Amino acid sequence: MMTPGGPLKTPPARRLPASPVGAQLGVSARSEIPAFEVMQITDEVARRRAAGHDIVSLCAGEPSARPAPGTFQPAGYTGPLGTTPLREAIAGHYRSWYGIDVDPGTVAVTTGSSGAFQLVFLAAFDPGDRVALASPGYPAYRNILTALGVQVVEIPTGPETRYQPTPELLAAAVAAHGPLAGLVLASPANPTGTMLGRAALTGLVDWCVAHSVRIISDEIYHGITFPEAGEPDPRGVTLRELDPEAVVINSFSKYWGMTGWRLGWAILPQALVAPVEALASNFALSPPAPAQELALTAFTPESYAERDAIVSGFARARTLILDAAPQLEWGAAAPSDGAFYYYSELGPQLERFGDSSSYARALLERGDVAVVPGTDFDPVAGNRAVRLSYAAGESAVAEALERILKFQG
Ligand SMILES: Cc1ncc(COP(=O)(O)O)c(C=O)c1O
Repeated sequence: MMTPGGPLKTPPARRLPASPVGAQLGVSARSEIPAFEVMQITDEVARRRAAGHDIVSLCAGEPSARPAPGTFQPAGYTGPLGTTPLREAIAGHYRSWYGIDVDPGTVAVTTGSSGAFQLVFLAAFDPGDRVALASPGYPAYRNILTALGVQVVEIPTGPETRYQPTPELLAAAVAAHGPLAGLVLASPANPTGTMLGRAALTGLVDWCVAHSVRIISDEIYHGITFPEAGEPDPRGVTLRELDPEAVVINSFSKYWGMTGWRLGWAILPQALVAPVEALASNFALSPPAPAQELALTAFTPESYAERDAIVSGFARARTLILDAAPQLEWGAAAPSDGAFYYYSELGPQLERFGDSSSYARALLERGDVAVVPGTDFDPVAGNRAVRLSYAAGESAVAEALERILKFQG
């Protein structure tokens, strides 16, 4: 073919930069967030196991997997907020566990609670808004908010408030940083396992309502709780009951042991339903259909009984750790009310090992036990603490404790 300027020239080949592509094309500042250390250690455990090491891992917060009944047919997209039967079944779960009515139209089914955090943070907060969260805390809250340009206000917590925020701590945060748009709560929390009772939650809700702060309540560990006999809220208190403007987030990952199915949900205040639906329909199109099919089987009496038996196993593993605590000669530990975590200062061990990362590394290399240093959860004081997950079960925990005591000599 001829062109006015003569024969068409072959365009010069596009030159690839010698340096990494990101250096030329740019990587967003909002993606400059740390990786999740737990997942890196899990990778290292897999490598060591493949190399023939017999590692006991108390790292991952993951119960043993729930088997899938039968085989699934290929499935298409569903509605962006999930199938109607599943949204209704989730609403029914609130009736059976907490005795409250939830409109299925306010339930958004998501790709794990992780998917819910992304959608809800986007829908509720603008870049530059301030959102408070407890430290130590689950690192993805901080990292997702940071990636979205939201300003994270860390509330340092310790044993005096059971590692949970209080109205006084929130007031101090506002005095230091300015007004808050949101507060992320987790009860039971990761990494500490501590819970907020009804009175403490009501105090926080009253403060947040008075200061126009939206609460995002992560209830993923509800049901994995170790209540005293007669406890009035044995599964945990859902914020849905106390604050109609709160967003409640939950998941099939922990109580139901369905981590790999990637399914969670949010209960939304009415004003957030349409924005979350719009975001979900662009970001994920729909939550995974086969996982939604399976999740319909989660709310039967048989399923609750099966999962409660598994929680009893966690309770036995927890008792082993609590009983062994004096022998471990570590420092102060958070009360492990729920989830399957034991978070403890290392105390005298720090004199020997320096910090919790060095302790964890030496324990993995010389003692064949994997634990997580607290640095993932608390960038300031986490270098003094470790988190043990007893989701691995009673016999793994017994073996790990024996090895830890031998390692510490
Ligand atoms: C407190 C907390 N929230 C949320 C998640 C995310 O879980 P998923 O995305 O599997 O629902 C985790 C996972 O460990 C967690 O510990």
